[in-house]
Amino acid sequence: MTDAPDWDALRAAAVEVAGSAYAPYSHLNVGAAALCDDGRVVRGCNVENASYGLGVCAEVTMAGQLRLTGGGRLVAVACRSGTGELLMPCGRCRQVIYEFGGPDCLVDSPRGPLPMSEVLPEAFGPEHLPG
Ligand code: THU
Repeated sequence: MTDAPDWDALRAAAVEVAGSAYAPYSHLNVGAAALCDDGRVVRGCNVENASYGLGVCAEVTMAGQLRLTGGGRLVAVACRSGTGELLMPCGRCRQVIYEFGGPDCLVDSPRGPLPMSEVLPEAFGPEHLPG
């Protein structure tokens, strides 16, 4: 178990890492930061491409950092633009967060932190696959 998420720190980390975004096409710098179940914080930023459809979201690179730095589970996630605006994860990213955080992972929202069970209701997940 981890301590209660420090939401202000997660939000600040998301804004900071948005500064590493590569977003020359949308001009929307996005950062994501998550508290993990072992207490560490993982972060990601969006990385776009001249072949537009190849761009990846901040939450996806964050999932990569989760795996690259020891795995584990996501407990609390904050997504912010480089100017500090709260951003909700897109639909695809909700699925990515669900994979590594499950229904109890909290996501910052305009209504405050919400569980993934509300952010992605009736989710498809690993438990629906055979074997
Ligand atoms: N983006 C994210 O990084 N995360 C989201 O959840 C929504 C959108 C990025 C993708 C693209 O680089 C830019 O924001 C504009 O859509």
